[in-house]
Amino acid sequence: MTDIDNIVILTGAGISAESGLATFRGPDGLWEGHRVEDVCTPEALARDPVLVHRFYDERRATLGAVAPNAAHQALAALDRAWGGDLLIVTQNVDDLHERAGATRLIHMHGELKSALCAACGKAVAWSDPLPPASVCDGCARPALRPDIVFFGEMPYHMDRIEAALQQADLFVSVGTSGAVYPAAGFVQSARHYGARTLELNLEPSAGSVYFDESRLGPASLLVPALVQDLLG
Ligand code: APR
Repeated sequence: MTDIDNIVILTGAGISAESGLATFRGPDGLWEGHRVEDVCTPEALARDPVLVHRFYDERRATLGAVAPNAAHQALAALDRAWGGDLLIVTQNVDDLHERAGATRLIHMHGELKSALCAACGKAVAWSDPLPPASVCDGCARPALRPDIVFFGEMPYHMDRIEAALQQADLFVSVGTSGAVYPAAGFVQSARHYGARTLELNLEPSAGSVYFDESRLGPASLLVPALVQDLLG
């Protein structure tokens, strides 16, 4: 690929699937046995905090049993070597991109390894189970919750993402179904601003028609091949 300086890469659950983490929209429509509305909305947290906290405690504990795969590693290698602007925007709440070594990274839907104070907004690194009503060390109120962007809440860092999309020469989407906005709309923004758009996914995503090119297959093969191509 030539004439590319600035790259934005959006990743979704599909990039972590080969590491052993479940995607969201499996054939049964459930995420780890739960309906998304029962564990991933502000209403669910208010109605049943024990269930919601336990659900994310289990997801956090699972991280210790999985490792970055070839796709995470290839993006980390690109991050180290790429001389132009690069922004990896992940919808994933796992920590596999950073464990592979990526640094130019944004978690737009939050992080399992972070707790957020619902009272004062302070976020703090968190590796252990998080019981409901854990106390915030910033404001001393018992208001810590999982630092996950629930449906109906605003994703993080939208200004920075929008600015990067405006400058992008290449937009790549990896392992996402394109079902959840605003991330699902990034391809149209990137196109609007003049970027070439490329999708890497096991199957065509919901927004497949908006991409200049779709490459279908497992991320562990497609991402290293793309990175090799980019780094020449
Ligand atoms: N390689 C590439 N793509 C894969 C692989 C793989 N090994 N395995 C699965 N996929 C693809 C699937 O075909 C699917 O299109 O990854 C996509 C995963 O889609 P979703 O499960 O919908 O995950 P995602 O798009 O990340 O979900 C977006 O939804 O519930 C919310 O906040 C949650 O961030 C999440 C958001």
